[in-house]
Amino acid sequence: MAANPLALQTYALLDDEDCEARIRAAKAALGERLVILGHHYQREEVFRHADFTGDSLKLSRLAAGSDAEYIVFCGVHFMAEVADILSRPDQVSILPDLGAGCSMADMASLAKVERAWRELGSVLDPDAHVTPVTYINSAADLKAFCGRHGGIVCTSTNARAVLEWSFARREKVLFFPDQHLGRNTAHRMGIPAEQMAVWDFDRPLGGLTEERIRAARILLWKGFCSVHQMFRPEHIDAFKARFPDTRVISHPECSFEVCAKSDHVGSTEYIIRTIADSPPGTRWLVGTELNLVDRLDAQFRAQGKSVHFMSPTVCMCSTMFRIDPQHLAWTLENLVEGRVVNRIEVPEAVADPARRALERMLEVSP
Ligand code: 13P
Ligand code: SF4
Repeated sequence: MAANPLALQTYALLDDEDCEARIRAAKAALGERLVILGHHYQREEVFRHADFTGDSLKLSRLAAGSDAEYIVFCGVHFMAEVADILSRPDQVSILPDLGAGCSMADMASLAKVERAWRELGSVLDPDAHVTPVTYINSAADLKAFCGRHGGIVCTSTNARAVLEWSFARREKVLFFPDQHLGRNTAHRMGIPAEQMAVWDFDRPLGGLTEERIRAARILLWKGFCSVHQMFRPEHIDAFKARFPDTRVISHPECSFEVCAKSDHVGSTEYIIRTIADSPPGTRWLVGTELNLVDRLDAQFRAQGKSVHFMSPTVCMCSTMFRIDPQHLAWTLENLVEGRVVNRIEVPEAVADPARRALERMLEVSP
């Protein structure tokens, strides 16, 4: 029996150059029916095919505003879910490799968040006193949970505005799944460490006492990004000992200690803008994913800027890396033949409340 030319196995045998040509041809054939959105952490061979690139907030807005029939997301699963939720029902959101998840997003599940909410109920009425805030790096059912409980979504760009919105409504916040974004943002808002408590989702009552819960303004889910946790304050010290004029810029998923030693803290889009706006000759040490740092170094070398990766060990986002030219070519050539593969479709019962939480976020975002 002849092998199916549109089967994924066929594409696994192609080299990147073959894929490059086939992706270009498929894009040309699909024209305006297709838009490819690419996150900054995507590898170069994929990133160059994106029609639009951005951080999570920018990509959400692009998905919401797109007219294309097919939105192919070169990013991770939660991003394609957001694209599906915010786009029209007749638009199709696609993730070229379904294995492209986010290990941080997986650290919070609906069952665990519902259990936390129930347990908080033994101390206070959470629906009256606690705003649930989920980082966009989370599954759609957690965004739906926030939508149903007067809560909201945030990204690394708008976390402060979202927390201000939240505290204006209820005196406490349950922030999941990234403790670091929550802590770094709350600290910048002037919330003292004694009013922050880490919610250990594997322990009864988050491992906290009733007094600690009552005293906390923000409860930080004990989740983290496996990529950004690799950056350490010692890396900054060692680099600055060699190059004292270095400017340090970090993503807020980095630890509090790393952010405290950084000159600038912000989203991937903010990191790009800040380095772009710096004067020629500036030396940067950057605490975020390797593909973006390498791209920035290549892009700004001609302006005499040097951009260095913060960790001495390589730490890439292995799930972002799963989107490769082979999967992209497979996805697009199937679309040319009228076949949709790897559609990400959030059931309306989940999408509707999740959309409420996302729309609140878009309204408060600067
Ligand atoms: P931003 O691009 O929104 O800063 O987020 C980084 C990230 O971890 C995406 O998963
Ligand atoms: Fe998730 Fe971290 Fe990868 Fe972002 S970099 S997608 S937070 S694992």
